[in-house]
Amino acid sequence: MTATLAAISKKTAPEACERRVAVEIRAISKHFGTGERRVTALRAVDWEVYAGQMSMIVGPSGCGKTTLLSVVAGILNADEGSVSIFGEEVSRMSDRARTRFRATHIGFVFQQYNLLPALTAAENAAIPLVIAGWSKSKAVDRAREVLSSLGMGKKTESFPNQLSGGQQQRVAISRALVHEPSLLVCDEPTAALDHETGLSVMELLREAAVKPDRAVVVVTHDNRVFHFGERIAHMDDGRIVQVEDKGPFRPASAPSTGGHD
Ligand SMILES: Nc1ncnc2c1ncn2[C@@H]1O[C@H](COP(=O)(O)OP(=O)(O)OP(=O)(O)O)[C@@H](O)[C@H]1O
Ligand SMILES: [Mg+2]
Repeated sequence: MTATLAAISKKTAPEACERRVAVEIRAISKHFGTGERRVTALRAVDWEVYAGQMSMIVGPSGCGKTTLLSVVAGILNADEGSVSIFGEEVSRMSDRARTRFRATHIGFVFQQYNLLPALTAAENAAIPLVIAGWSKSKAVDRAREVLSSLGMGKKTESFPNQLSGGQQQRVAISRALVHEPSLLVCDEPTAALDHETGLSVMELLREAAVKPDRAVVVVTHDNRVFHFGERIAHMDDGRIVQVEDKGPFRPASAPSTGGHD
């Protein structure tokens, strides 16, 4: 027994020490509107996201998930509190510096893909690089590589209306990853997809984005994909009410190793 405990602590202690904080939020509050219309969306929220993991934010509609993700990603300014991403305190940056930081270090995936209809898949996926100053041809070449790595090699010249929902979401994921961001944030990425396609998109996100030096945060309502979350923040009424650390991903169908089913 003692030997087993020693083996476990040997194994887990260094791993615990190595967990690198990717996002740290402290005492974040956010209100919308004024007077009688004032809504409190976040109430003094503290949270950490670690690199090398897929973190999830779950909870009922209106509880503040998108608001929290937007604050984490620097899309929205909190009224109070601080946000640090890989040690950089984004909440203290000027708007200009924050926009630059976001363009370099953060990728976004949304429920509705947000692809530009007049651009091909490769041109859509190339957008972050063009914004970063790459020439269009180099950016599109690089976007084609990313699309190919996500199983979209034959569709790089298709327009969004020629693609299925799952394929459009792959283009959106390629666009989010093309500039190799250290933080990927996804708001309900499977909500517009059928079950099978949703699972394959989550699998793709896990394989493409969960790296030792990168963190992924997914907001979801979709209980069919909860098992992808390695660290899950449960929200209710503007607060994180529970954080579950589930450890490395295991497929939903994996046999149980103990306890009851
Ligand atoms: N721009 C805004 N103006 C006013 N109120 C807002 C705004 N954005 C969000 N809210 C309010 O803040 C609260 C949290 O909204 P949020 O969009 O973060 O919820 P959510 O958990 O993402 O919900 P859903 O699951 O339906 O997407 C809600 O009461 C919402 O009405
Ligand atoms: Mg939302």
